[in-house]
Amino acid sequence: MSRTLIAFGTRYGATAEVAQEIAGILQEIYHLEVDLVDLSSRDIKNLQLYNNIIVGSGIKMGRWTGKARRLLQQFHKKCPQGKKLAVFVCSGRAGEPDQYDFAIERYVRQVILRCLKTTKPVAYEAFGGRKPLPDHTFKDNRDWGKIREWAHHVGRIFSSD
Ligand SMILES: Cc1cc2nc3c(=O)[nH]c(=O)nc-3n(C[C@H](O)[C@H](O)[C@H](O)COP(=O)(O)O)c2cc1C
Repeated sequence: MSRTLIAFGTRYGATAEVAQEIAGILQEIYHLEVDLVDLSSRDIKNLQLYNNIIVGSGIKMGRWTGKARRLLQQFHKKCPQGKKLAVFVCSGRAGEPDQYDFAIERYVRQVILRCLKTTKPVAYEAFGGRKPLPDHTFKDNRDWGKIREWAHHVGRIFSSD
């Protein structure tokens, strides 16, 4: 059975919920065996265990979490042959239609180029986020339809030879 890692970095929890949603679809619809890992509580020692890898990060002040970024760099250094990699971020700006292009370019494409050099992911996306506000409410602009659609897209790629 194809083994899949979903590893994420989160500061406020939004990326964890998105990763969980993607994991559910990959398990239930595509019958993939999924390890869901919060990088703040566990390091990934051996990428070789996995056929497919998804790395996700929340964005704060324009930055990924350090552990999620380092996992991308680790993927590049080890360059595991034949592994499929997909990448996503949760970012407030990505959830605003007029700022999505900025977010996908700055937070995803540029980070991929910097960390992965010539290694190319099979898919990448930028989703909205959930920002905690000073009055203890949240501004949540995640689009769950888009998140599920991307999970299916990735599930089809991971299931193909
Ligand atoms: C202090 C702070 C700084 C933020 N900076 C950015 C930013 O630079 N760009 C952006 O698109 N979103 C920004 N956001 C929104 C976050 O990307 C959003 O809350 C996201 O869901 C965070 O992911 P996490 O909950 O997994 O940590 C910021 C949020 C906070 C609270």
